[in-house]
Amino acid sequence: MGKIALITGASEGLGKELAKQLTAEGYTITAVARNENKLKQLMNEIGNNHSYIIADLSTAIGQDQIVQAISEQRFDLLINNAGIGAVGKFTELPLEKYQKVLTLNIETVVKLSYAYLKTAQSGDALINVSSSLAFMPMPIVGLYSATKAFVTSFSESLWYEQKSRGVYVMGLCPGIMSTNFADHSGGGLSKPPKAMTLTPEQVAKATLKALKSRNMPIVLTHFTDKLFAFIFRFYSRKAIVSTMGKIGSAI
Ligand SMILES: NC(=O)c1ccc[n+]([C@@H]2O[C@H](COP(=O)([O-])OP(=O)(O)OC[C@H]3O[C@@H](n4cnc5c(N)ncnc54)[C@H](OP(=O)(O)O)[C@@H]3O)[C@@H](O)[C@H]2O)c1
Repeated sequence: MGKIALITGASEGLGKELAKQLTAEGYTITAVARNENKLKQLMNEIGNNHSYIIADLSTAIGQDQIVQAISEQRFDLLINNAGIGAVGKFTELPLEKYQKVLTLNIETVVKLSYAYLKTAQSGDALINVSSSLAFMPMPIVGLYSATKAFVTSFSESLWYEQKSRGVYVMGLCPGIMSTNFADHSGGGLSKPPKAMTLTPEQVAKATLKALKSRNMPIVLTHFTDKLFAFIFRFYSRKAIVSTMGKIGSAI
């Protein structure tokens, strides 16, 4: 029998592309998001043997729906992909906006990881989608960067804890992708340099390659991010945040 994957945030962007590429590899997909029309569109594209669940993962009800789905059905792969940012100086946005970011990017990832790993079997895999900003805190999206630092650190520890039972955990750290993420996060960012941007197709392809080799706790998908991460090893934290602050105020 083919493998089964649950992907959060699969109605567009990276999640949708992961669903398409996993389907091509024989996976059956359960796609999770809020927008039913977009989920139906995905089903049209990947075929009717797949399914979707409409859930708002920034609410306890939505989170519980997916915890329930995980308890009722075995998944070979869970991808915690749904995420959102908040663009602006910290005190200039309403606190409620940050609470949503914290709930979706952290609390949901923890709850779903817990539900999944409790019953995961050898050979199963969990991918938590983080960001390269986890390594480079960027003022203007400071809270978002901090949530991704959490997801990365959390996933690394899970990778270590789970490997002895044959369950693979990946913290996926993409850089800038050509999706609608910036608009969904409050926009305001000018178009990033093309050389630093990958398509969701490219990132999904790199993700599935890393999933097959199952050996890296953290996967950086962009060459430019690998370069920055290397160069920043020789910088102080103060120098890194100051550099990122200058980049942030220029965009
Ligand atoms: N784009 C980038 O440059 C970039 C860079 C590094 C990391 N990332 C990370 O990569 C992941 C995917 O980003 P993306 O660029 O594909 O974003 P995107 O195009 O904005 O898509 C986000 C997905 O998450 C879903 N979603 C948002 N809020 C949700 C909620 N409350 N409940 C359930 N689903 C929700 C959206 O579906 P609905 O609106 O239908 O709910 C959509 O399917 C995120 O974790 C993001 O932080 C993105």
